[in-house]
Amino acid sequence: MAHSPNSYVALALIFLLIGTSSAQLSENFYSNKCPKVFDTVKSVVRSAVAKERRIGASLLRLFFHDCFVDGCDGSILLDDTSSFKGEKTAAPNNNSVRGYELIDAIKSKVEAICPGVVSCADIVAITARDSVLILGGPFWNVKVGRRDSRTANFTAANTGVIPPPTSNLTNLISTFQAQGLSAKDMVALSGAHTIGKSRCTSFRNHIYNDSNIDNTFAKIRQNNCPKKSGLGDNNLANLDFRTPTYFDNNYYKNLIIKRGLLHSDQVLFNGGSTDSIVKTYSQNDKAFDSDFVAAMIKMGNNKPLIGKQGEIRKNCRRFN
Ligand code: HEM
Ligand SMILES: *[C@@H]1O[C@H](CO)[C@@H](O)[C@H](O)[C@H]1NC(C)=O
Ligand SMILES: *[C@@H]1O[C@H](CO)[C@@H](O)[C@H](O)[C@H]1NC(C)=O
Ligand SMILES: *[C@@H]1O[C@H](CO)[C@@H](O)[C@H](O)[C@H]1NC(C)=O
Ligand SMILES: *[C@@H]1O[C@H](CO)[C@@H](O)[C@H](O)[C@H]1NC(C)=O
Repeated sequence: MAHSPNSYVALALIFLLIGTSSAQLSENFYSNKCPKVFDTVKSVVRSAVAKERRIGASLLRLFFHDCFVDGCDGSILLDDTSSFKGEKTAAPNNNSVRGYELIDAIKSKVEAICPGVVSCADIVAITARDSVLILGGPFWNVKVGRRDSRTANFTAANTGVIPPPTSNLTNLISTFQAQGLSAKDMVALSGAHTIGKSRCTSFRNHIYNDSNIDNTFAKIRQNNCPKKSGLGDNNLANLDFRTPTYFDNNYYKNLIIKRGLLHSDQVLFNGGSTDSIVKTYSQNDKAFDSDFVAAMIKMGNNKPLIGKQGEIRKNCRRFN
């Protein structure tokens, strides 16, 4: 019986379902259930960005840090409690990830129009797309239908699943590979550093100790980032020194002239295997946009909870 044609069909069906679990996400998942969700999210993101353009960068990064730890499942949004340790205080997130209050505000608006329907994980994904578009970058159709986790993983978030800014090229390629993302995806996604800011503590070593940095640029950045650890750790600098609030390909132009802010930025153009990709993106904004979009969709398909898995949280900060 185990070898009957029917059981082969059943097996094939199971593999198909598992193998294409991300295909369960779709652009029109909410078309009937909550047709106004995209407009509602966009209007809140639009007014937040009008007030502070950096928030767009923060929302884009929030999505990345959510997706890398056990998939895009809203796990990063869970608050710590006396009996639960979430991901918020993990090294890459603590005092660094922003945008939680805005996600709360959006969630309340969405709950008001379609209670219990739209996941926090999807809201994060939609805000990332809206942010890129509003800041001058490309549009894409966001796939939705993710559900929210009932777990988080502090250890994973804290220990290298999200690469640190000290990463070398080998580290970057392998941490992205572990998420099913190629070296090219990694270089394209790093272009997110065309917007937003970094704290001194994240780039101090690069501006004082590395040799693959333009000397004038290093001096300028040193002015607001003291050498001594503990001094000015939270002082901010723009990741893209030219157009820090516009989503464009200047990030790659900066790398070509050794003006990447993070060590992990400059290793992408440092005589290694990704130099040619950086060069292409620096010369061809269209190529960057289309590879960035493809990689964002791929990252967004990362192990989503679907169907009856997880839940639709009422409040993004806690389980129902
Ligand atoms: C390639 C590996 C990456 C590393 C090592 C890295 C590291 C960092 C670091 C250290 C910061 C500054 C954090 C701080 O000092 O508080 C930062 C900021 C940022 N990252 Fe990345 N990142 C990477 C990839 C990505 C990806 C894939 C995205 C999104 C697609 C992204 C989006 C951002 C944005 C937008 C900011 C600015 C956030 C803000 O201003 O609030 N990064 N990143
Ligand atoms: C997170 O940051 C706070 C405030 O700066 C600090 O007191 C705390 O120890 C940090 N948490 C972890 C887990 O490192
Ligand atoms: C959390 O992440 C760590 C490190 O990636 C992993 O070893 C562990 O199995 C994960 N825990 C759960 C409950 O998934
Ligand atoms: C990259 O860093 C890892 C440690 O994180 C180290 O083991 C490895 O040798 C480094 N690779 C290169 C090519 O420098
Ligand atoms: C520069 O590198 C040395 C040796 O690794 C280290 O002790 C020092 O803290 C680094 N300086 C900065 C500003 O990161």
